[in-house]
Amino acid sequence: MNVEERIKHLRKIIDHHNHCYYVMTKPEISDVEYDHLMRELIELEKEHPELMDPNSPTQRIGSDIDNEFLQANHDYPMLSLANTYSFEEISEFVKKIGKLIPGEPVEYVCELKYDGVSINLQYTDGTLSKAITRGDGATGDDVTANVRTIKSIPLVLSGTGYPRRFEIRGEIIITHEGFERMNRERADTGDPAFANPRNAAAGTLKIQNSALVAQRPLDCFMYHLAGSELPSDNHYETMMAARDWGFKIPASITKCRNLPEVFGYINRWEHERNDLPFNIDGIVIKVNSYRQQGKLGTTAKSPRWAIAYKYKTLQAVTRLKSIDFQVGRTGAVTPVANLEPVQLAGTRVKRASLHNADQIALLDIRLNDVVTIEKGGEIIPKVVGVEKQHRRPDSEPLKYIENCPECGTKLIRKTDEARHYCPNETGCPPQIKGRLNHFASRRAMDIGLAEATIDQLFEKGLVNNVADFYTLQKEQLMLLERFADKSADNLLQSILESKKVPFERVLYALGIRYIGETLARKIVKHFKSMQALSGASYEDLIAVEEIGGTIAESILQYFSREDNLELIQKLSRHGVQMSVSEHQPVQSMKLNGKNFVISGVFQHSSREEIRHLIESNGGHILAAISGNTDYLVAGENMGPAKLEKAGKLGIPVISEEDFYLMIRI
Ligand code: IVH
Repeated sequence: MNVEERIKHLRKIIDHHNHCYYVMTKPEISDVEYDHLMRELIELEKEHPELMDPNSPTQRIGSDIDNEFLQANHDYPMLSLANTYSFEEISEFVKKIGKLIPGEPVEYVCELKYDGVSINLQYTDGTLSKAITRGDGATGDDVTANVRTIKSIPLVLSGTGYPRRFEIRGEIIITHEGFERMNRERADTGDPAFANPRNAAAGTLKIQNSALVAQRPLDCFMYHLAGSELPSDNHYETMMAARDWGFKIPASITKCRNLPEVFGYINRWEHERNDLPFNIDGIVIKVNSYRQQGKLGTTAKSPRWAIAYKYKTLQAVTRLKSIDFQVGRTGAVTPVANLEPVQLAGTRVKRASLHNADQIALLDIRLNDVVTIEKGGEIIPKVVGVEKQHRRPDSEPLKYIENCPECGTKLIRKTDEARHYCPNETGCPPQIKGRLNHFASRRAMDIGLAEATIDQLFEKGLVNNVADFYTLQKEQLMLLERFADKSADNLLQSILESKKVPFERVLYALGIRYIGETLARKIVKHFKSMQALSGASYEDLIAVEEIGGTIAESILQYFSREDNLELIQKLSRHGVQMSVSEHQPVQSMKLNGKNFVISGVFQHSSREEIRHLIESNGGHILAAISGNTDYLVAGENMGPAKLEKAGKLGIPVISEEDFYLMIRI
């Protein structure tokens, strides 16, 4: 076998094992064997860049280029479904179909209604050509680069008989297990947790960096095929054919001949959904025959041949043992119920949210009450009711706390807010720890500190404010649990590295209220240094397009405090960036209106730096080459497919040096 054949063979068997693992969930080889094959393929492709293929399984790792999503059209509109919560309405639906198609038996297909984000995949000649979000139903975001990282979506189809061009729709989901792992990792890096798997999937799909998407546990279940040459005359067989082409079609899809069978399906999954490894919010009933679907047609919004039956939110009943009052990074107090453990929607629940004082009073929740809890897709369930008939006669109304459970400060309640706050920003431990976590988090200073380590650093009095990170000594770190020579060195190194973090992320890291990542970038673009920002007046601030009154007030309030100014001075003395880097060229509009695609590895700058240079000079970054691209900035080792495409479209390919010349003053 020559190299080319070996590469092709490896791609084929890795694709096969990906399918076994991610689609069939039945691996045929061990992880070690899989890694071995993958490593061989990576090596061979590195040695032979001319044999590179964008559909190779090695390309599912994504790219660190920031994408700006382009819009793309669906070939067929993406409709939604009519919803119902009652069996009567399903009977109506079936009756109406009987009237519209008189004298014919109608077969139905029942499927689970997966609770995630819908996606439309376009395939041309057996390969994935585009992945588009639902958008407004006619046009959506082109998220192909992100979707290509999802291992249960075939990049190249298997089997035979697929149409030359078709669209397949499905739902991108995250399993309970994947979701919990993801949130644990986010806690370790100090990133805020996602509220539920659907939000996590939606957020992930819109990340403008597919290398990050590749690390998230996304999965995709398919439920609808659209095209002009479908493989069968009915939905069920078409889905079975799609399964043979490599798509993940859950085994729960079932044909039903009549209403009782449909009700049977609904009842069965009403119970079994509790044990499913992912969230569903109902079931979908579809007319199986395409001919009959055609006869029934669609309304403007949804097909007349399908309906969704939505389950009521899952509930469980258990006893309230005690209440904790948690204080968050902003000082907001959240009452949390400790419960007798109970099974709910695939997880064992021990804690539930009680919202705020008003809600507790409204429901008259008391200690030892039997309470109803509910999980509306959210991972943290909430207490929604009290079974008063089970209340103990000696129970007493609950008194809400008046002082902070962490620092004893009297709580305040802001007008128009239901929650209580602890105003002791600088002395209340969870607020301090919250700020430390935020400062060290990946998207801020990226110090790589687990929450537990920050807790220890704080408890031992080693770090009280974010400037203290920069005075840490190795001997101090060695006193911490789970710290040894190497881990202490690593931490000190990453603290040192954080001094290179650009000013815009430093500003975000300070955690000034309302200054998120995007706003920090815009503020830095405008003011360029901490000195200029801290001296800005209300008028100076609101002159910036994105800054309104509330944000301006928050910034002024931050810089009016002596302790904050002192902190910034300390950070500055330690070498943390307090202005736009000198190495960054003067910003210009030299590239105004020009669209760039960056590809390959560069000698003098990272891709991130090139991206910055383009944007700070008025240019735009595109994810992929298209007719809109003005330049392709080509580094080393870039794939031949991109070069070929640029050549075909007549797009100038420029080197790193050419690019620097373009922005030279
Ligand atoms: S069929 C014309 N089947 O529910 C076909 N949709 O409320 C329309 N969904 O946007 C969709 N599971 O994101 C269909 N088995 C399933 C589904 C499903 C989840 C979502 C889908 C759609 C929404 C409609």
